[in-house]
Amino acid sequence: MQAKKKAVTAQVRVIDHPFVQHKLTLMRQFQTSTAKFRQLMKEVGILLAYEVTRDLPLKYQEIKTPLAPMMAPVLASEKKMVVISIMRAGQGLLNGVLELIPSARVGHIGLYRDPGTYVAIEYYFKFPNDLEQRDIVVVDPMLATGNSAVAAVDRIKEANPLSIKFLCLLAAPEGIEHFHQQHPDVPIYTAAIDEQLDENGYILPGLGDAGDRLYGTK
Ligand code: URA
Repeated sequence: MQAKKKAVTAQVRVIDHPFVQHKLTLMRQFQTSTAKFRQLMKEVGILLAYEVTRDLPLKYQEIKTPLAPMMAPVLASEKKMVVISIMRAGQGLLNGVLELIPSARVGHIGLYRDPGTYVAIEYYFKFPNDLEQRDIVVVDPMLATGNSAVAAVDRIKEANPLSIKFLCLLAAPEGIEHFHQQHPDVPIYTAAIDEQLDENGYILPGLGDAGDRLYGTK
């Protein structure tokens, strides 16, 4: 049991910052309103973006403060980062990530789960056309079966980007395992790893359907 958990979590970064955990608990609660849920998703998105970008390389450039010249750190990459949202729930996290990284380029991929097989079916695809030499963060709040995440990263890899990270709010052990079987080179950042999937492919205990809770569609 212990060994399995270790295997599942080895390539996953769980962001256990107290603010993230507190906000996630509020989001899980069934009585949290649509407006509050959306606001919390944005706030958590900012905090998660902070962690997912923690290891971005820096370079030094000469600047002048009002008092003296100095060598000061700036982001090393010449190219803007790209955030790719898996629609529709990804939009909620995207809004937070863009608060922290307003200059990021944005791509969208629309995937829905076939209700019978849970296979991810693509209905929309629009990426910046120069993903080579760019670092990518893929955002989707729920890593459940992992099918959508795998399909999105399959697509993104066709464009041969510099690096890819996957950012979610909640992950199921089944989703992590499936994702890392297909994409062992892509690290997962999540606020929590929940217990399991239910028979409908929802994360337990989870927070319900993230899209419905973001947009009040149920
Ligand atoms: N998608 C969701 O919105 N919630 C889940 O629990 C699983 C997939």
